[in-house]
Amino acid sequence: MLDAVAAAPVTPARAGEALLEVNNIEVIYNHVILVLKGVSLSVPKGSITALLGGNGAGKTTTLKAVSNLLKSERGEVTKGAITYRGENVTDLDPAALVKKGVIQVMEGRHCFEHLTVEENLLTGAYTRTDGAAAVRRDLEMVYEYFPRLKERRKSQAGYTSGGEQQMCAMGRALMSRPETILLDEPSMGLAPQLVEQIFQIVKKVNEGEGVTFLLAEQNTNVALRYAHYGYILESGRVVMDGEAAALRENPDVKEFYLGMAEEGRKSFRDVRSYRRRKRWLA
Ligand SMILES: Nc1ncnc2c1ncn2[C@@H]1O[C@H](COP(=O)(O)OP(=O)(O)O)[C@@H](O)[C@H]1O
Ligand SMILES: [Mg+2]
Repeated sequence: MLDAVAAAPVTPARAGEALLEVNNIEVIYNHVILVLKGVSLSVPKGSITALLGGNGAGKTTTLKAVSNLLKSERGEVTKGAITYRGENVTDLDPAALVKKGVIQVMEGRHCFEHLTVEENLLTGAYTRTDGAAAVRRDLEMVYEYFPRLKERRKSQAGYTSGGEQQMCAMGRALMSRPETILLDEPSMGLAPQLVEQIFQIVKKVNEGEGVTFLLAEQNTNVALRYAHYGYILESGRVVMDGEAAALRENPDVKEFYLGMAEEGRKSFRDVRSYRRRKRWLA
């Protein structure tokens, strides 16, 4: 009996305790524009959890709600709660959340253009108090995950490629020694081969450093190959969630998110009303 339990496959998505929990949140911009309509998700410790969906689905808004970056956009969480390690962090400011170990890598990879790659990485260590030697060690750790950054360390970030800037933004986040990284659209604007490289690094960091990832991606195909678990957002609602392997095999996901549709991309909602119509006609 015990043997059977021990032998059962346990994915990190199931094994870990929930580190981050988003409970039924609603987000409104400018007091009137309702964008998230009751989003719930759970990110287990040690997992790579993917937040999927097309452009405008609400992925960035969800990440910003977690990291408390909505205020600067005139956005507000008007319902629900966000907890981290069981503690309500809904109204915490971004710096306080970084101290708790949660850091966001923004969409569009923001590096300081006039600083070198290495200077950019070092700015990521600003909240740390464990001394220069530890920071140096972590710089070497970042260079091990991103050998390309080591080659480019003296280059001004503004003159590096899109892929290098994405690596630089991720490396800088790692320099704060985070427990959780909120990673927004790392694939955006990058060639397929580079996207693959970036995701391989995410996986290595997840396995090597135990960093938990909540990863927003439009590129469902690549995200579901590296994530343990996925949530699919449409128009501010979670329409489906499941183990990544199960989502990859799901016919609707295949059809509408993995580019296997015949006539362009539809949404789950279209599928449902289509099926309803079909039932009516039958
Ligand atoms: N600052 C803002 N003010 C008003 N509406 C916004 C703002 N930011 C995003 N939105 C709207 O919220 C919806 C979700 O956007 P976003 O979270 O960026 O989606 P995604 O990251 O999935 O592409 C979109 O309809 C977008 O136009
Ligand atoms: Mg976005």
